[in-house]
Amino acid sequence: MKGKVLVTGGTGYIGAHTSVELIQDGFEVVIVDNLSNSDRDVLDGIKKITGRRPVFYKEDLCNKEKLQEIFQKEKNIESVIHFAAYKAVGESTTKPLLYYRNNLLSTINLLECMLEYASNYLVFSSSCTVYGQPDALPVDETAPIKEPLSTYGSTKQSAERIIADTTKAVEKLAAISLRYFNPIGAHRSALIGEKPQGIPNNLLPFITQTALGLRDELKIFGDNYNTPDGTAIRDYINVVDLSRAHVVAIKRLLSGKNKKRNEFFNIGTGKGHSVLEMVKSFERATGQKINYKIRGRRPGDVEQVYADTKRANEELGWYAQASLDETLLSAWRWEKYYRTQLKNTNNNN
Ligand code: NAD
Ligand code: WQD
Repeated sequence: MKGKVLVTGGTGYIGAHTSVELIQDGFEVVIVDNLSNSDRDVLDGIKKITGRRPVFYKEDLCNKEKLQEIFQKEKNIESVIHFAAYKAVGESTTKPLLYYRNNLLSTINLLECMLEYASNYLVFSSSCTVYGQPDALPVDETAPIKEPLSTYGSTKQSAERIIADTTKAVEKLAAISLRYFNPIGAHRSALIGEKPQGIPNNLLPFITQTALGLRDELKIFGDNYNTPDGTAIRDYINVVDLSRAHVVAIKRLLSGKNKKRNEFFNIGTGKGHSVLEMVKSFERATGQKINYKIRGRRPGDVEQVYADTKRANEELGWYAQASLDETLLSAWRWEKYYRTQLKNTNNNN
């Protein structure tokens, strides 16, 4: 065993995939999640893939006493990966206090517990949203942090700030913030994947649900951007590749190879794809036709953003590996598996 990692939000989309990669690399995983946006049965998926069921606490990180109890009980939590957060961009603008409370109080409680229980290494889920619409593309980590476009984005900027100030003040603490671009896809086993509640906000789940007939049509938000086909461009990163970046980051901290006590890395592929390219690639990779219509722009969307991954490549030795087609196919396989599971559960009830 390589040591105990506390994974907050570990039953969520990226947390579950990262837990799998950690376990397969020999780490002991302890998950804390309040199940506000995930299900306990994700633990079955992790067990089926890895042969191990992580220790699980259903707790809210905003409850500091409960969090302290977990640190106390688990004794030697060496490092923490902090995924737990609310992430619905639209909702964050209508319920700002809910988002500030959940995403920031949880981070403060976590840091306080880490200091109290000598857990000195933190990997934090940040986002390319901190760059807004960058002045230059591809965007690297030295690009200015822009005025946030949503409360969600603001919580990521603030959490980065809180972590920066705390690492500055507390010498034993070291942190790495990973700024994810657009995570998509699912584990190749199709045993874990993304489970959006209600109507998906993100492109890929909307595409897979449209392919399955759960949605009538995909609305493409805007075709008058200044891009080759007029639709917006993003950097879509395979979720397993993204998860591997967390394992690499934890190992960097544990082995003291970090150059600073607070570091930032972009985690993307370095390639931008337009919405139309994504639709066409999905159709080609899966053989499914997507019914789509061009609609107006979605408020708050940036025109294009994709990562300069040089720092992650050179310093972490991490590279995105999966092809876009393989990632899209994994998302499609997961969607079909997940719906079959849901149908079986409903039939049995
Ligand atoms: P997710 O919603 O699937 O996972 C987050 C998990 O955190 C959920 O299981 C939820 O139940 C849990 N949670 C939320 N608040 C909690 C609290 N107070 N206490 C305990 N558990 C709590 O989201 P995800 O896509 O896996 O995202 C993980 C992290 O990565 C988030 O911090 C998100 O902001 C960040 N991120 C996500 C994306 C993306 O597009 N998915 C992009 C960039 C950054
Ligand atoms: C991708 C592209 C849409 C849905 C969001 C957050 C960001 C980060 C990742 C957490 C855009 C278009 C989408 C649809 C569409 N999350 N689209 N029709 O907006 O790049 O980023 O998730 O940190 O902070 O803002 O991702 O998947 O919603 O959209 O045309 O039904 O697809 O306009 O161009 P986005 P997305």
